Amino acid sequence: MLNRIVAIAAVLLSLGNLGAQTIADRTNLGASLFLVNRDFALSQDYAPEDLVRPNVRTQYGNITMRREAAEALEELFKAAKEEQGFVLEAVSGYRSFARQKAIYNRKIRNTGSVDKAQLLVAPPGTSEHQLGLAMDIGRKSGSGLNASFGKTKEGLWVAENAHRFGFVIRYKEEWTGITGYAYEPWHIRYVGKEHAAQLYRLDVPLEIYVDALSEAILNQSLLGGLPQ
Ligand code: DAL
Ligand code: ZN
Repeated sequence: MLNRIVAIAAVLLSLGNLGAQTIADRTNLGASLFLVNRDFALSQDYAPEDLVRPNVRTQYGNITMRREAAEALEELFKAAKEEQGFVLEAVSGYRSFARQKAIYNRKIRNTGSVDKAQLLVAPPGTSEHQLGLAMDIGRKSGSGLNASFGKTKEGLWVAENAHRFGFVIRYKEEWTGITGYAYEPWHIRYVGKEHAAQLYRLDVPLEIYVDALSEAILNQSLLGGLPQ
């Protein structure tokens, strides 16, 4: 599988400038490995086509994410309940560019500072929530999204087990200098089981992983054709 992804990525890289295609397409190394951050923004009109409502407990009404990620979320929540008796809730999934803009502007107003706001909320176009592959989660009757979730038994279990279902904790405390965001133990990002296992094992942020993978692919293409 990884070989296939590497091969796909090598083809993408060999295409060079992809013109009007979005950054999301350009940084797609196959499966669900899109990298979206302040360097790789999504266009205003980017919206995934396969958004569905995961069949999980939610804190608010209409929470959606991409189909494959939604199915994985259902499995994650089910395992939390069956293995530990934990009840998790989905809090925020897919957000349109406009929705992210509203949240971002509100954070600037509340903090009174663009710098402070940017540590907590992605500027419109740069949020993984627009990708439809991220979900903010919490415990049943938990106290909203805050760092203390990471210390709860549910949060600790999620951090150690999310990769089994294809998710990673995207914004760990020690990665702020790389990701640009404060610790968010509640924000899980779907990357697929294979990459999630590697990311968990290597314990690196997606930025580092995608960089390393892209470089390896580029080297292999330069060294002679597509990898087998
Ligand atoms: N809170 C995360 C960084 C977002 O707004 O996407
Ligand atoms: Zn989030």
